[in-house]
Amino acid sequence: MPNQSKNIILGISAGIAAYKMYDLVSDLKKLGHNINVVLTKDSINFVNELTLKVLSSNPVFCNMFAPELQTKPIHIDLADSADLILVSPATADIIAKIANGICDELITNILLAAKCPVYIAPAMNTNMWEHFTTQKNIETLVTKLGYKIIPPEQGDLACGYTGVGHIASNEKILNAVLNIKKDKTRGLGTKRVIVTAGGTREAVDPVRFIGNRSSGKMGIALADIAYEMGAEVVLVSTVPCDKPYQVIEVESAQEMQEVIESEFDKSDALIMAAAVSDFRPITASKQKIKKKNEDIVIELTRNPDILEILGRTKRDKQVIIGFSAESEDTEKNAWEKLQKKKIDIIVANDITVPDIGFGSDENAVMILTKDKEREVLQRQPKTQIARHICKKLAQMLNEVKEAKKV
Ligand code: C5P
Repeated sequence: MPNQSKNIILGISAGIAAYKMYDLVSDLKKLGHNINVVLTKDSINFVNELTLKVLSSNPVFCNMFAPELQTKPIHIDLADSADLILVSPATADIIAKIANGICDELITNILLAAKCPVYIAPAMNTNMWEHFTTQKNIETLVTKLGYKIIPPEQGDLACGYTGVGHIASNEKILNAVLNIKKDKTRGLGTKRVIVTAGGTREAVDPVRFIGNRSSGKMGIALADIAYEMGAEVVLVSTVPCDKPYQVIEVESAQEMQEVIESEFDKSDALIMAAAVSDFRPITASKQKIKKKNEDIVIELTRNPDILEILGRTKRDKQVIIGFSAESEDTEKNAWEKLQKKKIDIIVANDITVPDIGFGSDENAVMILTKDKEREVLQRQPKTQIARHICKKLAQMLNEVKEAKKV
């Protein structure tokens, strides 16, 4: 997660993974960066220029000799303005051209003129990746040019092969280029933090479930920031995700409870951002329930309140943070929950405010603590809210340590 916005050039070459760049451009933009997409001549077979223009809110470049007037030659203009260049997907062909300074594409011209950090995310057939020439070119990029390679992964390839050559996930590419890495010297170094994310699904039968609208974005942002701040993170999530820290995927409230109870004793903190279903069907049918011409009644039973159970049993030095999504009396209900569940911090939000909260990248919250502190965070990206909460957590964990010393 960036502290400041960067000018990023994304060079897209002609590989099937090019379509994944739609999401990458959109994610980078949401994080506040300015993206200039540069296409190779052949990549327009795989991606649509207009789509990338709209997603990046910028012109898309392909032609070295575009008729539009430029103050300087376009490759120099772009190279000078870039804080970072990412080539993704990088085919064997573009890698060979970059390694040998062949300037028959706009992106290779830009790279030759640029002085900023460069990241390359290769994607190709396994044999092409393992070929002596590609490996020699990669070595040149790393050792002679100082470029950073985001390695391709093992997987099922579009060409029908299974092997190394699959482009790294967008999350890995984002983590690499934005330099999201664990920094043990920061506020949560040496701490073990469990974060929950997503909405639980309570099975009705093998195909149906009772669920909720939680996207998991808040919990995942919290886990990312806690990791960045040096914590050993365990993310217990109903949403699958690929992260540099441990992710345990669960589905139901009971599964979530089981995992948390086995992890909590060896942890310093728990952040319960998940929307845990309060009820589940008394029995989940083993077979798919058949459609009949009559109504059916599904009997529900209470799920355990995970926060309340752990709030009662937690050790003094452990910190628990809960969330409270309310549609009325938000603050009053949040203060009550904080006390009832015997937790340290509660993060409250009013779900009736339009365009924020569930599924959105932004939220507005109130942070209440057991020491009666009250803080209001106006509408802002969930990543910023996560940073604020994690700083509060670090402060509280360190206060506990200080108090013990006295
Ligand atoms: O009481 P309420 O469900 O509004 O409290 C919300 C908080 O409690 C959230 O942090 C949620 O993760 C947690 N919770 C829980 N177990 C449940 C229901 C909610 O831990 N069964």
